[in-house]
Amino acid sequence: MCGIVGYAGYREALPILIDSLKRLEYRGYDSAGVAVVEDSVKIVKDKGYIANLESQLPQLRGVVGLAHTRWATHGAPSKDNAHPFYDCREKIALAHNGIIENYAELRDELKAHGHTFRSQTDTEVLVHLVEQSYAGNLEDAIRKALARCTGTYAIAVVHADEPDKLVAARNFSPLIVGLGAEENYVASDVPALLKYTDKVLYVMDREIVVLRPKSVQILDFEGRPVAREPQRITWSLEDAERGGFDHFMLKEIFEQPQAIHNTLLGRMTEVDTNGFFQDVTSVKLVACGTSYHASLVGKYVLEEVAKVPTTVELASEYRYAPTPTEQPLVILLSQSGETADTLGAAREAKRRGCKTLGITNGVGSSLTRETERTMYTRAGLEIGVAATKTFTAQLVALYLVAIRMGLDRGALSPEDANRLRDELRALPRHVQTVLNQADPIADLARAYAGARDMFFIGRGINYPVAMEGALKMKEISYIHAEAYAGGELKHGPLALLTPDTPVVAVTVRDRNYEKMMGNVGEVNARGSPVIAVGTEGGRDLPRFVEHVVYVPKVRDLLYPVPVSVVFQLLAYYAARKRGCPIDKPRNLAKTVTVE
Ligand code: M6R
Repeated sequence: MCGIVGYAGYREALPILIDSLKRLEYRGYDSAGVAVVEDSVKIVKDKGYIANLESQLPQLRGVVGLAHTRWATHGAPSKDNAHPFYDCREKIALAHNGIIENYAELRDELKAHGHTFRSQTDTEVLVHLVEQSYAGNLEDAIRKALARCTGTYAIAVVHADEPDKLVAARNFSPLIVGLGAEENYVASDVPALLKYTDKVLYVMDREIVVLRPKSVQILDFEGRPVAREPQRITWSLEDAERGGFDHFMLKEIFEQPQAIHNTLLGRMTEVDTNGFFQDVTSVKLVACGTSYHASLVGKYVLEEVAKVPTTVELASEYRYAPTPTEQPLVILLSQSGETADTLGAAREAKRRGCKTLGITNGVGSSLTRETERTMYTRAGLEIGVAATKTFTAQLVALYLVAIRMGLDRGALSPEDANRLRDELRALPRHVQTVLNQADPIADLARAYAGARDMFFIGRGINYPVAMEGALKMKEISYIHAEAYAGGELKHGPLALLTPDTPVVAVTVRDRNYEKMMGNVGEVNARGSPVIAVGTEGGRDLPRFVEHVVYVPKVRDLLYPVPVSVVFQLLAYYAARKRGCPIDKPRNLAKTVTVE
């Protein structure tokens, strides 16, 4: 949700800023802008993609600067609302990720003091507050300005009177520092830095960073220095490139066998210790979007394997729900580990006295600090806005949690645990079998890419998989897609079915097969074409449906993994046929760091 980069070094800042900003474009692409310190501070910004900004850049030779790519919250996507913003005298430039909640009253106050506003954003109050507080030291002015603000922010600021310095600050929005040799960087996320350094400092909430070419100083909001050890990033530049694939999404879909393998290798070392699950009597899974769908699958897995009562809640709802008396173990799932709603839910869970476990792909992300224990999915960097490999890695992480919890609670025998582990180890192979069918799946997707509406149906553990399939389809192809539990169609949605409404049905050979086939019959009777995902060897399916994609036979609990890969490919190829911007769907951003 907005990306920020900053540079202070000895090289021209502009090409470095643009290059690293492009690697954050998944965070938002409504507008982009850059500020470079020369004799004065020069800002160039415009509506649209970074490529559009790049095409109009003048030569700027300054060695300190910052840049921003926006996902609009307050104020429409426009040039005026693009970051960075100037103060009234155009000496300061500021870029922001987050929301200043009390901006309206601050704006009135600043206007009364004679400040002129040029945008409709919440952010612009920040630059005027800094201007108002400035007395020769930028970090002091920022500290005073932030003391007036409530909300979430990561900001980067430069001032023409202190040309060798960039100051950044954080409260609830991600910010990292990259350390180089006589050059230093700030960024919202790791991919921006991969080309330049693997040495980073994670900035914590309510901290200010003063970046100069030869030094980095971290201060708390009271102005006291903070000591912090640098950490090494293990992701490589290759991870942040498309590597011959047309889109990151396709690359990431094809990386799933490896991602699942790596997540399995990581095992439960982080939560294995101290019988963390021994006293667990109930579990609540909390997440947003695709991670929420993984959580819904997780409920079936935990209840079946660990025999533990489990509920699932959307993070944005959990945060504000009444506090119940029970204290479940709260497991928070987030690919990024930076989703504002999920972080808020983690804080709320702690406030309620619950034990917390975070499952995330974001190494060193905020979620790891907001939860008692962390389990990493080791899916590798995911850049496409649509979550793919991180979803299947989350499922694998949940299988592992269920095994550990089942053993700790005495609900699962070591023999059964080993059998399940063996079957998990076969998943990369099964996923590869699905990937090998990418061409026929692409044909199918192309055949139905003209549909206006689509339905996805499944039962039991495959109902949330249908929900994930519908989400993938709508977010990248813009086809209106709805998911229903197979048994629910007859309670209303059947009214919408026509011969132009394809229905994608999970009809694998699990305990719900017969019932699902009954639902397929209901769809057939309305003349809608059915695309079924069935189990290899199920020869009767083609007699009842127009198309079948087969997945390998696995135990009921494991079908969500191969089936969701089929859905990812369907969505990808439908979106491609429709000419959609697959890695950057309209109105979306990969990491949603605002409520
Ligand atoms: O990083 P998170 O897993 O917390 O993100 C939650 C959702 O924003 C995310 O899963 C979103 O729904 C996906 N990008 C959709 O593909």
